[in-house]
Amino acid sequence: MNLRGNTILVTGGSEGVGFALARALVDHNRVIVCGRSEEKLRRAQSEVPELHTRVCDITDANQRGELLSAIEHDFPELNILINNAGGGHPVDPLDPAAAEIALHADMALNFTAPAELATRLLPRLRARPRAAIVNITTGLVYLPKAELAFYCAAKAALHSYSRSLRWALRGASVEVYEVLLPLVDTNFHRGRLPQNIPAISAERAARLALKGMLRGAPELRPGKSALARWLDFLAPRRGLAAVNG
Ligand SMILES: NC(=O)c1ccc[n+]([C@@H]2O[C@H](COP(=O)([O-])OP(=O)(O)OC[C@H]3O[C@@H](n4cnc5c(N)ncnc54)[C@H](OP(=O)(O)O)[C@@H]3O)[C@@H](O)[C@H]2O)c1
Repeated sequence: MNLRGNTILVTGGSEGVGFALARALVDHNRVIVCGRSEEKLRRAQSEVPELHTRVCDITDANQRGELLSAIEHDFPELNILINNAGGGHPVDPLDPAAAEIALHADMALNFTAPAELATRLLPRLRARPRAAIVNITTGLVYLPKAELAFYCAAKAALHSYSRSLRWALRGASVEVYEVLLPLVDTNFHRGRLPQNIPAISAERAARLALKGMLRGAPELRPGKSALARWLDFLAPRRGLAAVNG
């Protein structure tokens, strides 16, 4: 995949992995980042003034529609969507009230919104001579964590959708990438970064993801994500025990 001369939308690009991706891409591409917090977007733009920013909660259908209309108007040449925004609610999946909230919120953010953005942008992307959809998922797709049951299930859905889309688009101008990230030290963990597994930095996660895309590898499993896949295959119970501490 050529990472120069593109117009790229990075959802959740105001901090963490999304911001690291945006920062790494902005020298040779036009990059638009979105997020819910205007303050975080302002901070991101003050560090990287070339970024274009847009406030948008991608789980809100109206805001998603406004984002797409703004892009159509301001950046009709958009050719890469990076579905990065994500997050999970840690809950006891056996607690009905808490589970109900996490189920809807985690599916909306980690599956419905990225799949909807991809679906709505696809006609436009298919008209470009080269284009890509990049879905950021997790090694927990293979070995889910019980307290993030709905987040893991939503990412597993995005993993499955990425594979279907790649198959449906074979031979077309739109490439489909999936980056199954390992543990990354970001605000995702809200100060509770698991200590039983080594974490990589957001900058390293972005570097590894972009290196893989440059190579044209459709499914990237940096760091411990590759191990998670093999553990699931060879010793799933041991793998689940390791992930669930
Ligand atoms: N950190 C990890 O260990 C890890 C591991 C595997 C996979 N991942 C995946 O990597 C991706 C990036 O995670 P991260 O660690 O960089 O998280 P992060 O540091 O918490 O950043 C999340 C970004 O998404 C934005 N965001 C959250 N909810 C949003 C919404 N409803 N609408 C629009 N933007 C929203 C946030 O901005 P606002 O808060 O302003 O909206 C922020 O810019 C996610 O898909 C995550 O699932 C992370």
